[in-house]
Amino acid sequence: MEPELPKRLTKHIDRVVTLASELARRHGADEARATLAAQGHDLVRHWSDEQWLAEAEARGIEVLPVDRANPVLLHGPIAAAILEERAWLSDPELVSAIRCHTTGHPSYTPEAWCMFLADKFEPNKLKRRPTLQRVADAAEVGLLEGALAYLELMEEDGQAKGWDIHPLQTETLAWLRSQVRAHA
Ligand SMILES: [Fe+2]
Ligand SMILES: [Fe+2]
Repeated sequence: MEPELPKRLTKHIDRVVTLASELARRHGADEARATLAAQGHDLVRHWSDEQWLAEAEARGIEVLPVDRANPVLLHGPIAAAILEERAWLSDPELVSAIRCHTTGHPSYTPEAWCMFLADKFEPNKLKRRPTLQRVADAAEVGLLEGALAYLELMEEDGQAKGWDIHPLQTETLAWLRSQVRAHA
């Protein structure tokens, strides 16, 4: 693994760190922990499909058909495994936040949601895709509201484009719907 990340990726990570801190401050989550998760989330995002698949197989990480079709889905699980192995991140909640950062997870803590959301609508992504503004607006209201808006947008996109949806994404979306509706 190369020790240096490409500049484009470093800049994305910096924007995610900044936005994750802002979201944590706004919603009373722990800024330092949200920042740590943000710093580690894309450790291997620059790898190739072949590298992700080979590394997942070497590490015994489960590779579902949807992962095989879209190996980028493995970059979170692989980053989590490396960070844990090198003891760069010892907090199991943050490791798990990074593992699932493409789909989210029903067990996510507020800090994990801050990182997740910051990753999805950091300023460059928002500029490239203005429909993400609805995610940013919902995230002003609450972290779960923001995550729900994002996963609903992904569901719409996936259906329109005929993409496979990761089972964990479906599970997280159902959980978010139940939570946000229960508290509406
Ligand atoms: Fe990522
Ligand atoms: Fe990212």
